[in-house]
Amino acid sequence: MKICFLGAGSSVFAKNILGDCILTPSLEDFHISLHDINEKRLDESYRLVSMLNKNLNGRATITEHLDRREALEGADFIVNAIQVGGYKPCTVTDFRVPAKYGLKQTIGDTLGIGGIMRGLRTFPVLRDFADDIEAVCPDALFLNYTNPMAMLTGYLLKYTKVKTVGLCHSVQACVPTSSIPRYGRQARRRKVGYLRNKSSGVARLRPRQGRQGSVSRSQGALFERRRPLERQSEAGDHEDLRLLRDGVFGT
Ligand SMILES: NC(=O)c1ccc[n+]([C@@H]2O[C@H](COP(=O)([O-])OP(=O)(O)OC[C@H]3O[C@@H](n4cnc5c(N)ncnc54)[C@H](O)[C@@H]3O)[C@@H](O)[C@H]2O)c1
Repeated sequence: MKICFLGAGSSVFAKNILGDCILTPSLEDFHISLHDINEKRLDESYRLVSMLNKNLNGRATITEHLDRREALEGADFIVNAIQVGGYKPCTVTDFRVPAKYGLKQTIGDTLGIGGIMRGLRTFPVLRDFADDIEAVCPDALFLNYTNPMAMLTGYLLKYTKVKTVGLCHSVQACVPTSSIPRYGRQARRRKVGYLRNKSSGVARLRPRQGRQGSVSRSQGALFERRRPLERQSEAGDHEDLRLLRDGVFGT
């Protein structure tokens, strides 16, 4: 299995998402190809992910590529965590120009004028991604974390042939902890799922008192001693993603 990471210079996403993959037994022997347009950031993430793989006794093969098509060749899954234009100048401009006209924003990357501007500068880049994907890995599932997440996912689903799902990396931990007090039986079922993750010994996901925060599995892995891989849960999150791909897209 091959996972291609676009925007691998986003070291936070590379560490969290790929760290979780490395900790998932069903993905032990997979190939991770990292791509970014920024050589320095790409190399830093390559060293970070390689170190995680080594320290977690992972068996992944990790490669880095400045050439996007080369990175995508034969991929089964593609993770997208790019930020077109970066914090400076683009995110700063998204705030300063509306502020000049009295429009205040909080994050400005999802909806509203900031989200729209982000979307407009990212659509053409996704069009280029889609051309490459349609050519070298047409069956791959595109996991989009890039904001504005909903607009970009909608664009890919409507205007390209790329099989796409929009994701947030915290949802799988946040939803069960935040919904338990509210919904009766459904919440109890979710709690079981939550405990199952916890019992894997990898995550040690604990709801923080009074907060909806979460600790990703790879964050746990960096700071806590874990059980050996063979004692972890057999059902990995990414196995669920494979089922999702096959179920939703009928491949
Ligand atoms: N869905 C979520 O849960 C969630 C949460 C937080 C952030 N995000 C989004 O994730 C993305 C990454 O956030 P970050 O703060 O880590 O960004 P970052 O700026 O640290 O990293 C983004 C990387 O993308 C690279 N990049 C830019 N254009 C590219 C291109 N055309 N091809 C390949 N690489 C390219 C940059 O060089 C950089 O290394 C952003 O879009 C952000 O809004 C999503």
